[in-house]
Amino acid sequence: MKKDFLSLYDLERADFEAVFGKADKVKKMLKAGVSHTPLAGKTLGMIFDKSSTRTRISFEVGIYQLGGMALFLNNRDTQVGRGEDISDTARVMSRYLDAVVIRTYSQSFVEDFARYATIPVINGLTDEQHPCQILSDLFTIKEKKGRYEGLKVAYVGDGNNVANSWIDAAARLPIRLGLACPEKYEPAPNILERGTKKAEGGITLYRNPADAVKDADVIYTDVWTSMGQEAEKEERKKIFSGYQVNGELLSRARKDAIVMHCLPAHRGEEITDDVIGGSHSVVIDQAENRLHVQKAVMEILILGG
Ligand code: CP
Ligand code: NVA
Repeated sequence: MKKDFLSLYDLERADFEAVFGKADKVKKMLKAGVSHTPLAGKTLGMIFDKSSTRTRISFEVGIYQLGGMALFLNNRDTQVGRGEDISDTARVMSRYLDAVVIRTYSQSFVEDFARYATIPVINGLTDEQHPCQILSDLFTIKEKKGRYEGLKVAYVGDGNNVANSWIDAAARLPIRLGLACPEKYEPAPNILERGTKKAEGGITLYRNPADAVKDADVIYTDVWTSMGQEAEKEERKKIFSGYQVNGELLSRARKDAIVMHCLPAHRGEEITDDVIGGSHSVVIDQAENRLHVQKAVMEILILGG
């Protein structure tokens, strides 16, 4: 049966490890100049309703490096934008493509598409989830720290798609997760509830960022205004002003803490220039790993292992 990748909550620990193992191999092969083209003749459809730099490029380049090709489809240019039924679209696209990655607003669009598609569907970001990002970030943590088990990840800022996917990760892997979010900007209550029940290492919601980053191995932040929330930008700047990752906050974490951001960053808002550009920051390596991890995901989903 085909497998989809819609949220980290759907994965078992063995699935994470399979991806990390393969990502490590494809990364080493690429660096050594060894060609690896198991997806020759395969086509990845990319349905994108929102902007993207990293996700789009890493999937397009990734499938190309694996021997296949990508077809970038903006919903405005297809019949989806004119209201074609999602079940027809998903079933028809399944006859042409070998997998599809979707970046859109509602999680239900991705879930509905996956229900009707007979090919693997990958969630490339919705308002609710960003699983490719956090999967790759865990690989980066493993690379930088040698493990993720028992480490404390402190997420500071908006309880958005990235925060929700961190909660799903903590539900499946033995990490300790602390989130500091302002009132009314907490992660999705259903995701927090199901995650808290499962999380071996614990998930704690704080109001004060200083409490969340105490003893943290990883400090993670994301924009205060996500795609689709642009009208709230000025209001959000005021509400989140105490949630900036700056030198003072960083000094409260472990001495060897790493700083992560999924990017794009708004320097001077959620993170200061000196911290994102400083010695604790791993954001560029983090972005690079999107390529290696997504290559692993595509290979596993398309070839079934
Ligand atoms: N982090 C991330 O998904 O970046 P893009 O929006 O550029 O794809
Ligand atoms: N939370 C951000 C992530 C961008 C990669 C957004 O949804 O815009």
